[in-house]
Parts: sequence; structure tokens; C-alpha cells
Amino acid sequence: MPTPASQSTMNDTLRQSRFLKACRLEPTDVTPVWLMRQAGRYMSEYRELRAKVSFLELCKNPELATEVTVTAAERLGVDAAILFADILLILEPMGLDLEFAKGEGPVIHNPVRTAADVDRIRWMEDPSPLDYVYRAVTSIRSALPSGMPLIGFAGAPFTLACYAIEGGGSRHYEKAKTFMYRDPGAWDALMERLVAATTLYLNAQVAAGAQVLQIFDSWVGNLGPDDYRRFVLPHMRRLFEGLDPATPVIHFGTDTGSLLELQRDAGGDVIGLDWRVDLDQSWNRLGPKVGVQGNLDPTLLFAPIPEIKRQTRRILDQAAGRPGHIFNLGHGILPTTPVDHVIALVDEVHSYQPRSAQ
Ligand code: CP3
Repeated sequence: MPTPASQSTMNDTLRQSRFLKACRLEPTDVTPVWLMRQAGRYMSEYRELRAKVSFLELCKNPELATEVTVTAAERLGVDAAILFADILLILEPMGLDLEFAKGEGPVIHNPVRTAADVDRIRWMEDPSPLDYVYRAVTSIRSALPSGMPLIGFAGAPFTLACYAIEGGGSRHYEKAKTFMYRDPGAWDALMERLVAATTLYLNAQVAAGAQVLQIFDSWVGNLGPDDYRRFVLPHMRRLFEGLDPATPVIHFGTDTGSLLELQRDAGGDVIGLDWRVDLDQSWNRLGPKVGVQGNLDPTLLFAPIPEIKRQTRRILDQAAGRPGHIFNLGHGILPTTPVDHVIALVDEVHSYQPRSAQ
């Protein structure tokens, strides 16, 4: 595979940034931090823009996507920016009719329910239907400070398949899991199409200017280890194998306490941890070859600031200065979170002194 332009031409400030060093398990001056959903409704600048345009219009307008991404990263003082987009956008060129309905979250009007529906899902032969995303990546890259890495992302095939089959969010994923158990052949066929499309999509984001990738398997914690091994792991492996080897990948999921080793075996340089697990114990389970990202509870941001700081220090104490920790929440920032609490969290990570250095 040719080396994508953004890796071969990456400047040294970027290469030596805290965030990229942590992805390579190299020591850093302080722990890098960014937050999932750092650009979102909890920020007044975002709400003002959203009063004028719909969420999909925002995602499809590179200029506005740049504004939202860069404003959030600069206002918070974080160590990385994340592309403003959504994991479900890829479903549109595959033939699914996606809508972000007001107050309801995402809805797919023609969900996949049968093997014949899978046959109708289009193979994405080239990445061009999502050109607006790559244009946003290039525009964000040039607008960001030269030393701030940009994270590109996609949904993992399991999480995307859940949306495609359920037609929206779900509590128990009974339609998706019934489909998987009843017709494993059709399940594999759907996963293969999703893997192929996602591989093209992520590599195109790297070529357009992303330095790091994150794969969101937000709902995979709903599976037990045996089902993960059978229905997910082989597909995840193929996805990781198809990605540009020079670009670090963060493998994220929630409620994955029983799946961490399997996720590591599937692939990724950094494994996401949510707040239901202890960071130190989980990292010991994962071993020395991967970094970890996490793992503050997003609802803790509603607590008084001294409590936020206390728990931030607890997590940093658990990481104990081991190279390869990226501080983050265990899941995205909630829409009613106070912005000053988020900024206090970022500042606390940056001013943390390990106990031995105090
Ligand atoms: O700041 C960032 O993290 C980058 C942008 C980003 C969004 N969605 C913007 C968004 C990212 C990385 C995502 C990923 C995403 N989208 C995931 C994986 C992460 C996770 O939360 O588990 C998932 C499952 C989705 C699907 C999705 N998009 C849902 C379920 C919803 C509705 C729920 C909600 O929070 O409103 C969205 C909409 C969405 N995606 C918003 C944003 C800022 C809110 C839309 C609005 O402005 O009304």
C-alpha cells in the first residue's frame, strides 16, 4: 500500500506531539487528553450553529465542520482534534436511508431485516461518495495549529450493523442479534460489506490529512466473549489489516470489561477503556504492547469541580506515568455538561504531578 501523503509529509512538531508519542508508547511531558464528543451540544458555539443548519448539513459542509472542530479543540486546550462527522454517514452510500430526527436520534427508514436486504446493500467500490468528509479533513488539518494531531474515525462493523438492522438505537439489540444467530451467512455478508467500505473510508481520511484513527465499537459490549469471537473478531481483524500501517489506531468500545483481550487480539495500538473497569488492572490484562485511552465517567463532569479533579488524579495515579496513556472519558460528553467543568478536567490532566515528583 502506498504511504498516504499525510504520513510521509507529516511535520516534526506533529510527529513529536504528546498525543502521537503516547500512541507510539513513548514517554511524554504530561499525559495527552482529548474528549469524545468534544464538539457538541454542550458548547454554546455549537448550539448557535445548529440553530441555523441541520446536523446532516453540518456534517456535509466542510467549512462548518472545520469551524466546529477547531473551535472545540482550541476552547478546551486539548491535545488532539477529532473530525466533525458521524459514524452513520457511511450507511448512506451503501443504500440506507438515514435521518437524524429531532429528539429521536438517528433513524434508518429502510433497515436490513433479511438476507435479500443484505444483497441490496451496495459494496462501496471507491471512497468518493464520502468526498465531503475528506474535504473536511483537509480543511481542518490546514486550520489547526501545526502541532495538533487530527483524529479521523469510523464506526466498527458490529456497531454499524446494529444500526442498519435495528433501524436506530436499541437497548437490547434483539433484532440485530436474532439476525446474527438465525442467519450467520447473511450476517457475515453484511459485515464483509461494512469492513470493505470502512477500510476505504478510513484510508481516504488518512490520505486527506488525519494522523490517527479511532474505530468506535460503541455497542459491542452487548456481546459475550464467545459471540465476539465468532461474529465480530474475524471481521475486525480484516479491518485492522487493511488500514495504513503507519497510522496509529485507537480501538474503542463501551461495557467491554469481558472483551478487552479479544479486542486487543483483533487489533489497534491503543484500547479504549470505559469507567466500569479499573485502568491499572485492565492495562495489566492487556499487556505492554498496547496503550490505553480513558476512562473517566462522563457523568462525573456534573460533579463539583474538586470531585472531578480528585477522580482525574485517581486515574492518572493508576496509569502511574506508564507511556501510552491517553486521557479521555469512557464515552462521549453529555449534552448538558457544563463547559467550565470540562475545561477544569483538561487543566487538571495537564497540571498533574505524579505522586513521586511532588
Ligand atoms: O466531537 C466528536 O466526538 C466528533 C463528532 C462525532 C459525532 N458523533 C457528532 C455527533 C463522533 C465521533 C460521533 C460518533 C458517533 N455517532 C457514535 C460513536 C460514539 C458514541 O457516542 O458511542 C455513535 C454511536 C453515533 C451515532 C449517533 N449520532 C447518535 C446515537 C446520535 C444521537 C444521540 C445524540 O447524542 O444526539 C448522533 C448525533 C450526533 N453525532 C450529534 C453530534 C454532535 C448530536 C447531533 C445534534 O447536533 O443534534
